[in-house]
Amino acid sequence: MVKSGKKNMARTCLIAAICATARRTNPIRSVSAFTGSSLGSASRQTSVSTSPFSFSKLSMSTETDSEVASSSKILKRIKTVDAAPTDGEVAIKGWVRTVRKQKTLAFVEVNDGSSLSGIQCVLPFDDIDEASKKEIDNLSTGCSVEVVGKIVESQGKQKYEVQSSNLRIVGECPADTYPLAKKRHSLEYLRTIAHLRPRTNTVAAVARVRSVLAGSIHQFFQDTGFVYVQTPLITASDCEGAGEMFRVTTLDLDNVGELPMKKDEDGKTLAGVDYEEDFFGKPAFLTVSGQLGGETHACALGDIYTFGPTFRAENSQTTRHLAEFNMVEPEMAFADLNSAMDNAENMLKYVVGEALKKCDEDLTFFSKFYDKGLKERLEKVVKKPFVRCSYRDAIKYLQEEIAKDPSKWQFPDVEFGTDLATEHERWLAETKFNSCVFVYNYPKKIKAFYMRDNDEDGGETVNAMDLLVPGVGELVGGSQREDRLDVLLEKMSELDLDPEDYWWYLDLRRFGSVPHAGYGLGFERLVCYVTSVENIREAIAFPRYPGNAEF
Ligand code: 4AD
Repeated sequence: MVKSGKKNMARTCLIAAICATARRTNPIRSVSAFTGSSLGSASRQTSVSTSPFSFSKLSMSTETDSEVASSSKILKRIKTVDAAPTDGEVAIKGWVRTVRKQKTLAFVEVNDGSSLSGIQCVLPFDDIDEASKKEIDNLSTGCSVEVVGKIVESQGKQKYEVQSSNLRIVGECPADTYPLAKKRHSLEYLRTIAHLRPRTNTVAAVARVRSVLAGSIHQFFQDTGFVYVQTPLITASDCEGAGEMFRVTTLDLDNVGELPMKKDEDGKTLAGVDYEEDFFGKPAFLTVSGQLGGETHACALGDIYTFGPTFRAENSQTTRHLAEFNMVEPEMAFADLNSAMDNAENMLKYVVGEALKKCDEDLTFFSKFYDKGLKERLEKVVKKPFVRCSYRDAIKYLQEEIAKDPSKWQFPDVEFGTDLATEHERWLAETKFNSCVFVYNYPKKIKAFYMRDNDEDGGETVNAMDLLVPGVGELVGGSQREDRLDVLLEKMSELDLDPEDYWWYLDLRRFGSVPHAGYGLGFERLVCYVTSVENIREAIAFPRYPGNAEF
């Protein structure tokens, strides 16, 4: 939710020091060439240098193996097995999920991360070499393995299995210390082992869906003529004016007594650090939004978008907030609030449609274990127009509902000017409309300085919108921007923002100003919405929140 307010002191300090970490060389293979790695058609070749197997050359193909030379063994991604069963021997490389040994054979379930299901490898003791038999004795959940065999139709519940002739352990995994036992673990526990949790069904499925969503977002904007702009992560401007920024400094905070302090003309020390002595010669922060930079490019290139990390030092432990999250921020010149709402709706319909097409196995898994109505809800997003409701109407509906039983609400006092809480947003999206709903024309007082004053609405509102979605609440926040220099200066003065800090932003209104609009979509909230995982800490590889920057 965008909030206005005076600039507070930025909190928590952050030193930008990036250490180059030596990459460990993969002992098994060295990647020799990448070919055709564009969206949706990743196909690559891998040459094996020091495999314990005697393959002279392995070719690896993610989507298809048709180009592979017949003399080579095909390194198969498990995802492709169902799509294209192969004659001849294949090699599967992955991590063991389960091992079952019987008198005459062993069943080893291997997952290589390419799909949810993994594949069962059957190893009849009569058909495998002695070395493989020994390896099976040492096999446990979590070991990495190479298995060679033929893909055959399975007698069991899966469609195919590998009738294996060889198995080698690539990396052992001591069962007594491996933190991912076979049993189901809670998502809270998995957060404490975030480096290993992508090996679990839920977290791997989230990662795959997330990847498809990111690719589809780029695809949507690229296909509709938007220019991708990378705006800086280090900034001197507080876009949202809410003072929730992490400071970036190279000043030595371990020696507070040595910090350079401001001085008056007579050299007398004043209160406050002299940031002219800091790395950038002025206070610098991690960005809360790429919007202001985005506007500069929209006002030259027309339609642009940014997609990158943003940072907020909110002391928030909710299931919807991260201190570091990714935002998609399109900005359109010669556009108004309706254009922004239309674009957000079209974009969401597209990316959700792509997820339904490309992530069926993972979405089926989420429907089974997290939200039975998930696919139906997503299909509705694609097919049904989103509701549009003014803020004034939203308040009226809420007041009517709350009046029926105020005790049911944590925040029963709702009136014009109220910053809607999650329970209000979710009631509107889930109960009142049972749909994605744009709430527009918010009161000036609760929105950011850059939003355009609404001429028609008694001077009390701005041309702003939030998109509320069932299960999540606010997914998108956007507005038409104030393009009139005099009005913008007045708004900044009311909020005590120094125009000098925003001189370049104001120049956009001095030189060839145009009506323009845009929005920000919280990418991790979208991941939650599409996968139905409840906590945003599962929607990102390494969540950052107050008290946690592990990994
Ligand atoms: O509504 P917000 O604050 O809007 C802006 O930052 C605008 N400058 C965007 C623009 O117009 N270009 O944030 C946009 C979205 C929210 O709707 C929410 O989905 C997400 O970013 N968001 C967060 N997601 C995770 N953790 C947080 N702490 C978030 N704060 C906002």
